[in-house]
Amino acid sequence: MTDVMATRGRTRVCWLVVPTESARTVLHVGIMKLVIIGGTGLIGSKLVTRLTEQGHEAVPASPNTGVNTLTGEGLADALQGASVVVDVSNSPSFEETAVMEFFTTSTRNLLEYAAAAGVRHYVALSVVGTERITDSPYLRAKSAQERLITRAGIPYSIVHATQFFEFIMRIADEATDGTTVRLPPVLIQPMAADDVATAVAKVAVGPPVNGTVEVAGPQVFRFDELIRQGLAARNDGRTVVADPHAQYFGAELSERSLIPAGDARRGNIRFEEWLNQPVLQR
Ligand SMILES: NC(=O)c1ccc[n+]([C@@H]2O[C@H](COP(=O)([O-])OP(=O)(O)OC[C@H]3O[C@@H](n4cnc5c(N)ncnc54)[C@H](OP(=O)(O)O)[C@@H]3O)[C@@H](O)[C@H]2O)c1
Repeated sequence: MTDVMATRGRTRVCWLVVPTESARTVLHVGIMKLVIIGGTGLIGSKLVTRLTEQGHEAVPASPNTGVNTLTGEGLADALQGASVVVDVSNSPSFEETAVMEFFTTSTRNLLEYAAAAGVRHYVALSVVGTERITDSPYLRAKSAQERLITRAGIPYSIVHATQFFEFIMRIADEATDGTTVRLPPVLIQPMAADDVATAVAKVAVGPPVNGTVEVAGPQVFRFDELIRQGLAARNDGRTVVADPHAQYFGAELSERSLIPAGDARRGNIRFEEWLNQPVLQR
C-alpha cells in the first residue's frame, strides 16, 4: 500500500493506493485542519478524539489551551491554515446578561478571525427548539449566536442537538425546590454526548449546509419521567413532580418544544445503555 501526499490550498490530500486482486483501488481522503473552539469541553474533547482518529488535524482551542474567544487571545495563531472551525464552546454562566454577552461577543470575534484566516466552513453546535423557546435567556443567546453566523457570509452548518444525557443532573438541580423537582410532562428526545460528537464530526468534515441539521436520541420520553429515571439510577431520593407550568431554565414549554421539528438524524445510544456504562464514562 502506498501513501501519496499532496497539498492543495489549505487541504492536504492523501491517496491510499491499495492493491486488490483485479485492480488497484484508490481511496481519496481529504485531511483537514479543524479548530475546535471549546475543544476541552464535554463535546469538544470527544470531537477532537473522533476527528484525530479519522486522520484529521483537530486542534482544541479554549482558555485552557491559551485561546479565548471573548478577548480574541490566541485566535489568529490557532486558526492559521484551518479550513474548518467548529464552535462547541459554552458560557460559564447561564445568567441572562452574561450568557448573551458570551455568545454574541465570542461569536463576533470568532467570525472575524475565521474570515481573516480564510476558513471555508463554520460549524456551531446549538439546541433543538432554540427558535421556538423565546422565554429562555440561554436560548435567546443561542439564537443571537445563530443569527450572527447566518449573516456573516462564511459557509456554515448549525447542528441542533437535543438535551444530552450528561445534562440531566444539571436540569434536575435547576428544577429543584427543597427535595422536589418540578418539570413539565412534555416530550423530550435526549441523546448521549458520544452521539452528539459523532454527528458534529460528520457535519464538520462534510460540505457546509448553510442551514440547520437536527440530531436527536433514539427514544422519546416524558420530561418528568426521564428525570425520574435519571435520579433513580443514582439513588437520588428527590421526588419528581409533573407540573405543566414548571419552567425549564426560565421558559414554559409546550408538548413538542424540545422535539426536532423535521426529520432529525438519530443517535444510537439508548438511555438505559448509557446508564449502564461505568460512571467514569458518563
Ligand atoms: N447541554 C445540553 O444538553 C446541550 C444540548 C444541545 C446543545 N448544547 C450545546 O453544546 C455546546 C457544548 O456544550 P458542552 O456541554 O460540551 O460544554 P462544556 O463541557 O461546558 O465545555 C465548554 C467549553 O467552552 C470553553 N470555553 C469557555 N469559555 C471560553 C472562551 N472564552 N473562549 C473559548 N472557549 C471557551 C471551555 O474551555 P475551558 O475548558 O478552557 O474552560 C470548554 O472547552 C454548547 O454550546 C451548548 O449550547 C448543549
